[in-house]
Amino acid sequence: MPESVVTATACANFALIKYWGKRDPALNLPATDSLSLTVNTLKTTTTVSVEPELTGDVFQLNGMSASEGQRLRVSRFLDLIRRQSGLSHPMRVESTNTFPDSAGLASSASAFAALAAAAARSAGLDMDRTALSALARQGSGSAARSVFGGFVRMQAGTETDGTDAVGVQVADENHWPLHMLVAVTDDSSKMVGSTEGMEHSRKTSPFYEAFIEGQDNAVLACADAVRDRDMEKLIDLMEANCLAMHAVMISSRPGLLYWNAATVRLIHEVRRMRRSGLAVGFTIDAGPQVKVLVSPESLDAVKDRLMMVDGILNIYDTAPGPGVQWSVGS
Ligand code: DP6
Repeated sequence: MPESVVTATACANFALIKYWGKRDPALNLPATDSLSLTVNTLKTTTTVSVEPELTGDVFQLNGMSASEGQRLRVSRFLDLIRRQSGLSHPMRVESTNTFPDSAGLASSASAFAALAAAAARSAGLDMDRTALSALARQGSGSAARSVFGGFVRMQAGTETDGTDAVGVQVADENHWPLHMLVAVTDDSSKMVGSTEGMEHSRKTSPFYEAFIEGQDNAVLACADAVRDRDMEKLIDLMEANCLAMHAVMISSRPGLLYWNAATVRLIHEVRRMRRSGLAVGFTIDAGPQVKVLVSPESLDAVKDRLMMVDGILNIYDTAPGPGVQWSVGS
């Protein structure tokens, strides 16, 4: 019997080794493994109820009706759940985020991880985390990682149906007390989205294949650095991989340049801080925000110096966070 109302909360995650390319766009299968950190304070909470009397799915985001494009994306995802559960009824989905949508703050990751957990349970499907991860991936690739807490490896997998393209936890959220500061330099959502951007890069960047070929080694090395709590090695791998992905983006035709002037100022400031002995490194996704990985000893000094960079709007202080959690009831 389906549970009527289920609420799930999922945290965003930031890739230390990036996912930028698909081996099968229809099933949303990534071309390579990736490795991320799930973070505790950037969250999506989603309540789903199965409502036979509705004429179609309803999607509310932050208390307002979502755009038709967003509603269709959610509705297509709910179709996957309806197919698996044999349930045909419309669903009501109400989501709230603790951070701005679509500005390179990984909102699709927490959104689809929370939606997968709440909608599957509400439709009566009893899925373990691995099955939820495969489901969430079909909403957004990075969402497969937010199903798990801490450091998570996303497997590209080899199966054509995508059953092995799932997240696997490398170390839980208590393994290493790092902080990830998110330095926001622009909170609008005017960039080319990841789905479109990575297909554009696959088709047009001369560096795409070289990036894809390097990913297996990067993920293995990064997993070792995480297990050994080796900050210097982790920072080196994380920055190199971020810049390699942005080289692919920038060399696409026309080029995808996600950075603004403050993004570049932040890169230089992070490197200056590291030269002065602080344990700090950066990564950047498909937007102009800079995510700054920092050890607890260096946290206060790094925050103070980031706040002084021209163009900073806001800093979110995050730390390793848990995987998706859900409960029955409104
Ligand atoms: C740059 O997971 O948003 O953040 O699967 O098409 O929804 P879709 O893409 P998405 O891509 C994330 C891209 C990235 C890097 C990363 O998180 O690994």
